[in-house]
Amino acid sequence: MSRDGDIRRWKGKTEAKGEKRRKLTRRVKTSRGRKISSVRWLQRQLNDVYVQRAQEEGYRGRAAYKLIELDDRFSLIRKNKRVVDLGAAPGGWSQVAIQRGAGQVVGIDLLPIEPVDDVNFLEMDFTDELAGQAVIDMLQGPPDLVMSDMASNTTGHPATDHLRIVALVELAAEFAIATLAPGGNFVAKVFQGGSEGELLKLLKANFITVRHFKPDASRTESAETYVIAKTFRGRK
Ligand SMILES: C[S@@+](CC[C@H](N)C(=O)[O-])C[C@H]1O[C@@H](n2cnc3c(N)ncnc32)[C@H](O)[C@@H]1O
Repeated sequence: MSRDGDIRRWKGKTEAKGEKRRKLTRRVKTSRGRKISSVRWLQRQLNDVYVQRAQEEGYRGRAAYKLIELDDRFSLIRKNKRVVDLGAAPGGWSQVAIQRGAGQVVGIDLLPIEPVDDVNFLEMDFTDELAGQAVIDMLQGPPDLVMSDMASNTTGHPATDHLRIVALVELAAEFAIATLAPGGNFVAKVFQGGSEGELLKLLKANFITVRHFKPDASRTESAETYVIAKTFRGRK
């Protein structure tokens, strides 16, 4: 059965960022055969104002709005500069980067990505030792912005998951430090408690400013936030 066949619609009122707007509120009608967690996920997606906006505005996913907010606030995407999007699938952040004037964008992901105009994608693990050079070759120079919206797959074991999440962000920061042009910027998704200690030390040693910011488009109940490290000091 199609997704549309599964849902019942009715008009409801919601408040988004101070402005009252009407939206379609949708309820999953047929939950038979689905796990409770997947019914909740589907219901939340269907009612999510950013999911609806992404569909209307042609973005690959709601994540695009997180980068839009981050860029509005921290001016990360610079005109005609080179951008690397780590963990780019399905491509929302890459869409935003190229729309906002980046000169070249290379996205890298374990998964295949449908083409985006003027963006190149690499289907590979960014931790592969060949990834940094492959990205630089494709961009024809070092990136000015390395952005990462990656999250590792969870195992359900909280301590293991925490370690994997922290390790992934640290590897993304190391990728940035190994490839960025001097003066470049780094933005990455981190999880509560995950950007302290070693990662913060590493970023403060290599960038002039380090900040944290949780965009409105990031779900309140999610522990995710973003670390923004600006003005790379350059490799010694
Ligand atoms: C939340 S999604 C990114 C969404 C994206 N920012 C957007 O706007 O469409 C995270 C992605 O990170 C990718 N990823 C996780 N670990 C990776 C790795 N080691 N190398 C490359 N991609 C990875 C996953 O395959 C997944 O597609």
